[in-house]
Amino acid sequence: MPILNNLSCPIDLAPLHRNERSLICPHGHTYDLAKSGYVNLLPVQNKRSKDPGDSKEMVAARQAFLNQQHYFPIVETILSSWPEDNLRGDLRILDAGCGEGYYLNEIGRLFTAQGIVTDRVGLDISKWAVTAASKRDKDVSWLVASNARLPMPNERFDAVLCLFGFPVFAEFSRVLSESGVLLLVESGEDHLIELRKILYPAIHEYKPTFASELADFGLISESSKRFFITLDSQEKIQQLLSMTPHMHKASYEGRELLKQHDSLTLTADIKFRWYQKKH
Ligand SMILES: C[S@@+](CC[C@H](N)C(=O)[O-])C[C@H]1O[C@@H](n2cnc3c(N)ncnc32)[C@H](O)[C@@H]1O
Ligand SMILES: [Zn+2]
Repeated sequence: MPILNNLSCPIDLAPLHRNERSLICPHGHTYDLAKSGYVNLLPVQNKRSKDPGDSKEMVAARQAFLNQQHYFPIVETILSSWPEDNLRGDLRILDAGCGEGYYLNEIGRLFTAQGIVTDRVGLDISKWAVTAASKRDKDVSWLVASNARLPMPNERFDAVLCLFGFPVFAEFSRVLSESGVLLLVESGEDHLIELRKILYPAIHEYKPTFASELADFGLISESSKRFFITLDSQEKIQQLLSMTPHMHKASYEGRELLKQHDSLTLTADIKFRWYQKKH
């Protein structure tokens, strides 16, 4: 599958054409490929900050954590819960908010093993995340871009994945084909409960990040997966903390208490929701 095909100019949504190491729109907007092969399709005027999204340090911590395969059960559940009607020989997948590319890389590897060819696009607003992703897997179109305005034509994908991310449902619906599906993955009530009990004096009542009912989508299936992860060093504990919202939410005292632990066994509790596009 050629990479960086079938994308749109983020300024005017006109089709982009590849010319050696650039993508060019008919109105003359030009986007150069970075050395590692990704393209930045986030126009300066759409940037709310100079360095949006996850920082270099957060990306490095997440990459180190995910590379230890603690979250591989999430990959397995994504594959096993994938709606059967959606599976076709050549599957066009968008990972919207792909981070450093762990999931899209693993998903591609497992689908290839099943004889399913994938056309995968991963995008994230953080250039640090996309730089890391583009070094991980050369068979994916990696883009610095925003979910707020996806630089791709209507009905471009069979599936959109949004894992622990920031969904923009109207855009997801626009880029999905008639029979397209959306996967939302988020943490469940007991996710990392042992860590939260160390960090916070009291645990707040659980509130799902998104309602099950969405304007543009109908729910197809919902499931939860629980498993345990053991982190056997303070360094690994800190890597996990850096990729969670608790890094910023927890107090100084809470973070100091966590530093006293050299080993932790934690509950992972993850929710998976598959939706189909409403017509
Ligand atoms: C919690 S991380 C999850 C990353 C990845 N899906 C994973 O599970 O490893 C959220 C990601 O969303 C990205 N992000 C934030 N705002 C975004 C936007 N408007 N469009 C695309 N990505 C965004 C951040 O840079 C960050 O990499
Ligand atoms: Zn243009």
